Amino acid sequence: MTSTAPAPVSSSRRVLVTGASSGIGAATAARLAADGWSVVAAARRAERLAALATSHDRIEAYPLDVTSDDDVAALVTHLETTGGLDAVVNNAGGALGLDRVEDADVAQWQRMYDVNVLGALRVTRAVLPLLRASAAQTGGSDVVFLTSTAAYATYEGGSGYTAAKHGERMLATTLRWELAGEPLRVVQIAPGAVATEEFSLVRFDGDAERAAAVYQGFQPLVADDVADAISWTLSRPAYVSIDELVIRPRAQANNWKTVRTGV
Ligand SMILES: NC(=O)c1ccc[n+]([C@@H]2O[C@H](COP(=O)([O-])OP(=O)(O)OC[C@H]3O[C@@H](n4cnc5c(N)ncnc54)[C@H](OP(=O)(O)O)[C@@H]3O)[C@@H](O)[C@H]2O)c1
Repeated sequence: MTSTAPAPVSSSRRVLVTGASSGIGAATAARLAADGWSVVAAARRAERLAALATSHDRIEAYPLDVTSDDDVAALVTHLETTGGLDAVVNNAGGALGLDRVEDADVAQWQRMYDVNVLGALRVTRAVLPLLRASAAQTGGSDVVFLTSTAAYATYEGGSGYTAAKHGERMLATTLRWELAGEPLRVVQIAPGAVATEEFSLVRFDGDAERAAAVYQGFQPLVADDVADAISWTLSRPAYVSIDELVIRPRAQANNWKTVRTGV
């Protein structure tokens, strides 16, 4: 009989978390460090990463823009020369605007595609040789994509973000099929509404009132709920692949129906 106990994490296991300067990425970096991983925390804002690294053991701050080929190439050199890599969490991303298709801002669509889809592609392609090398030594390595319930269905005003997240989901699915037979897992985590401090603020270009209204009247998820799910998927025995995991607040039936009873 095979054991289903979580695989213990050795401190020599190293994970890259992109978008680690806030929200889900910061919570995930902290949670994985607590689980025993050595964490490379990457995002553009160096000072926020430095604060995260200072307040947690086993977190290294690594400033990086996932839309920059040069930054990603420098990251790979850094990882190669400092111990390699065993897992990546492609979390950097987000939404811009809530415009109807007829009012869509093409530049916003381009930025969303560049970060959510091409950013994840750039990073994953670049670190794949390191993950393969790790898997050959350790028996398994992991690629995690933070998509969204926006990767499964659309909603009015959501076409730019849902198109990007659908694209990222197809990237994850295709990669899983292409890697079948190798000791690598490709995990896709798709959260519904998560009340993070910046996601809706970024989406609504700093409009705090509009951002706060997104989470009013119901209990949204918090970043730790998603970090917990990521930690759980990574801690399954190597033969178990959590291909896709949809995680929503109970009050959110789908992307356009949230029951707001005034919590
Ligand atoms: N909050 C939600 O309701 C929700 C639901 C489903 C899925 N998601 C997804 O979960 C992920 C995290 O969302 P969140 O709520 O934690 O949002 P957030 O707080 O706005 O965090 C986004 C992170 O991405 C980083 N980032 C943005 N552009 C980047 C770039 N070009 N290069 C490197 N890092 C970049 C940001 O850091 P810097 O600005 O410092 O670069 C930040 O750390 C996103 O992919 C989002 O689409 C969120």
